[in-house]
Amino acid sequence: MRNKYFYIQTFGCQMNVHDSEQIAALLAAEGYEQSSNMNIADLIILNTCSIREKAEQKVLSQLGRIEKLKKQNPGLIIGVGGCLAQHLGTKFHKKVRSLDFVFGTHSIHLLPDIIASIKAERKKITEIDFHKSLMSLNIFAEPSKDAISSFMTIMQGCNNFCSYCVVPYLRGPEISRPIKDILEETKKLADLGIREVTLLGQNVNSYGKNLNDGSNFTALIKKIAEISGIKRIRFTTSHPRDLSLELMNCFAEEEKLCRHIHLPVQSGSNRILSLMNRGYTIEEYIKKIDYLRKITPEISITSDIIVGFPGETEKDYQETIDMMEKIRFDSTFSFKYSERDGTAAKKLKEKVLEEEKLRRLEVLQELQNRHTLEKNTALEGSIQELLVEGRSKNSESDLMGRTSSWKIVNFKGESDLIGKMVNVKVLKAYLHSLRGKIESNQEMDNVN
Ligand code: SAH
Ligand code: SF4
Ligand code: F3S
Repeated sequence: MRNKYFYIQTFGCQMNVHDSEQIAALLAAEGYEQSSNMNIADLIILNTCSIREKAEQKVLSQLGRIEKLKKQNPGLIIGVGGCLAQHLGTKFHKKVRSLDFVFGTHSIHLLPDIIASIKAERKKITEIDFHKSLMSLNIFAEPSKDAISSFMTIMQGCNNFCSYCVVPYLRGPEISRPIKDILEETKKLADLGIREVTLLGQNVNSYGKNLNDGSNFTALIKKIAEISGIKRIRFTTSHPRDLSLELMNCFAEEEKLCRHIHLPVQSGSNRILSLMNRGYTIEEYIKKIDYLRKITPEISITSDIIVGFPGETEKDYQETIDMMEKIRFDSTFSFKYSERDGTAAKKLKEKVLEEEKLRRLEVLQELQNRHTLEKNTALEGSIQELLVEGRSKNSESDLMGRTSSWKIVNFKGESDLIGKMVNVKVLKAYLHSLRGKIESNQEMDNVN
């Protein structure tokens, strides 16, 4: 019998990327082999995102292309999961006629049953219920043989209800995973050769709140750091309001915790931050950044910014620019505000014109590029410790690793360094990467 193939495409955030890894693990257990060619697939899954209007459009136009494949192969099964699936539910079947199943953000573990029912009788399926505990959190996605770094979901959902954001409606309330399960998974990953874990959650620093057993995020990091195979720990994303002194101090105390924090600021105007329901002032935000830089001067700080939120005046926007000049982020993801159904911000009247949003975004991104290059250039001549992740995308003879501060460094080296910690001298800085030269292989130094 011919192999059965599945093709999966992921849209959206790292959370979704990891969910797709879990989906792939479930499908492999059902006898499907993954293919990167959707033309030969028996099963196609899109793991979707709904964060901004553009994200939805991308998913829908890809589905338009996929529908045509069903004309040539009527046996093809097409499913959509993730946040847009959660959002549209049964409406998805009306929009895309050839869709077989829709599964929401809490229903990943149901996939084997869903596929079995479709094979038994071709009927349309929709599974979008929310559950109190997340069955899917413990699905183990075995990393590929040469993987060095792995994601691990430690909590799902969000209770923050920022006024522009759909995530709390689509991922449900915060649910933390028991510490025992997380540590077991980390040990398993370390035994399989993983050296770096990235702890995932929409608001990781509220980890443990719903467990009522005294668990908290800093304690979790310290426990993970005790696992010897793990050399580096990262996390994303944390909310500025919940960034505790204890967690900030952890950057200075815990060597395995990488010197990088992604701390979305969204705006530099207190008026807009309040309309966004972010729960902090820009002064409080800056105070935390100052403290982090005081205790770990090498820390890199990245952020998310939205321009053109309803009611954002030129003055508010200028306050965002001034804040950027003051903080000088290592890099930022910046977006035009995008109106989402069901969110509180949709009711706000004073919309900013699309072309004005675009102008504000372009000016802001140009400024950020200058800051990023300035930050990267400051590293020229320094020695950086890298975890070597693999071959560089740019050149066959180069390796690629990241600094603790999350910057990409390309350098000449042999494959046996992959997975090792090495010291590299930074020769040249670019906007998106650094060029380095190997100084020493630390693990060799330790042996000698
Ligand atoms: N939980 C994370 C990330 C959420 S989504 C956090 O709170 O930081 C990633 C980013 O998308 C957000 O930080 C925000 O900058 C952006 N975003 C979310 N909703 C948006 C909207 N309606 N329009 C524009 N950008 C949005
Ligand atoms: Fe959305 Fe705010 Fe929750 Fe982040 S913290 S997921 S922006 S509601
Ligand atoms: Fe998108 Fe859902 Fe992530 S809306 S950004 S995939 S949580």
